[in-house]
Amino acid sequence: MKFGPLGTVLRWKNRAPLPSLRLFSLLHSRSSFGIAFDIDGVILRGRVPIGGSPQALRRLCRDSGALKFPFLFLTNGGGIPESRRASELSELLGVNILPSQVVQGHSPFKNLLKRFENELIIALGKGEPALVMSEYGFKKVLSLDEYASYFKNIDPVSQYKNWTTEKIFNSKANTKDLVPRYDVLSDRVKAAFVVSDPVDWGRDIQVLCDVLRSGGLPGQENGPQPPLYFAADDLEYQAAFPSERLGMGAFRIALESIFNRIHHNALEYTSFGKPNPFVFKNAEAILRRLQPSCHDGYFMDNGNTGSNSFETLYMIGDNPLVDIRGAQKAGHPWFSILTRTGVFKGKENHAEFPADLVVDTVEEAVDYILKKESSF
Ligand code: G3P
Ligand code: MG
Repeated sequence: MKFGPLGTVLRWKNRAPLPSLRLFSLLHSRSSFGIAFDIDGVILRGRVPIGGSPQALRRLCRDSGALKFPFLFLTNGGGIPESRRASELSELLGVNILPSQVVQGHSPFKNLLKRFENELIIALGKGEPALVMSEYGFKKVLSLDEYASYFKNIDPVSQYKNWTTEKIFNSKANTKDLVPRYDVLSDRVKAAFVVSDPVDWGRDIQVLCDVLRSGGLPGQENGPQPPLYFAADDLEYQAAFPSERLGMGAFRIALESIFNRIHHNALEYTSFGKPNPFVFKNAEAILRRLQPSCHDGYFMDNGNTGSNSFETLYMIGDNPLVDIRGAQKAGHPWFSILTRTGVFKGKENHAEFPADLVVDTVEEAVDYILKKESSF
């Protein structure tokens, strides 16, 4: 391996055939490495593949479409169920992606099912946050859009908005008496989940402040704050615009600053997503399950917990504060690779959270990994 200034690794120019990838060639039953790909700024910008991502991913799959090496997507984004994200990625990238290969910021919310399964909860963010939570099994979930629509005048500037919000009512055909699906005017919200990047920040901050300071019933006296969960805490992310966009972390700061000014108790919340080490532990467990289930050398989601541990797990990301910091916190066997296709655009390595390797694109990262793994 050749190292450049500040730990950057000089790129190999030529692609050599990969004669013997370690353990895989020995056993035809497991890989000694796995890869976690960040999505925004590494694989896609908006809906456009970047950095040679389709070619890179194809190198990890067999012609049949089955996995050659275990890999998954570890994104702080979301807003649609994992199964739908998997089909979307398969279509955009031209490789077959299983739902179990998609871990989104909100995926760990399913672990809170036991606590809130039958409680009234609200979910907000772009896409279909309520559908995401319903698919996780939550029974009484309303999107913040729908929830707010039952409170007349809760948004004092709604008449100035030239977009419309959809109301879903439990109405019989042809009836004019529209009834909310849950008794939102007396049933307290027990928890609020920020599933994906909020769309209408002003309205969402207003309604969240109402829900959180009233103890779950807007317009009522102050009460104990219901739990608030964020899928991630990214200050910025790349997206399709040339400069970074404000992410869920920016929304959290805005909400927190305002809430703490209008309420005597500071906002309490829990943020999921990278860089939390448990996200990487969970990714490792999923990658183990993506190991082969038989000795024909084919990798698939076999549903087993998998006992073999990896020698190296690669995290390929564009955001030093989130992806690289997360892999660093997670420690062995994580190895971080920073691309220049997203949030990070520096020439050398990131000063505060230097990656183990810096490359221009995800294609270079995969090339590096396959060469390194074949040399053992
Ligand atoms: O909204 C998406 C963004 O916060 C991060 O996405 O794929 O870079 O983790 P990703
Ligand atoms: Mg990213």
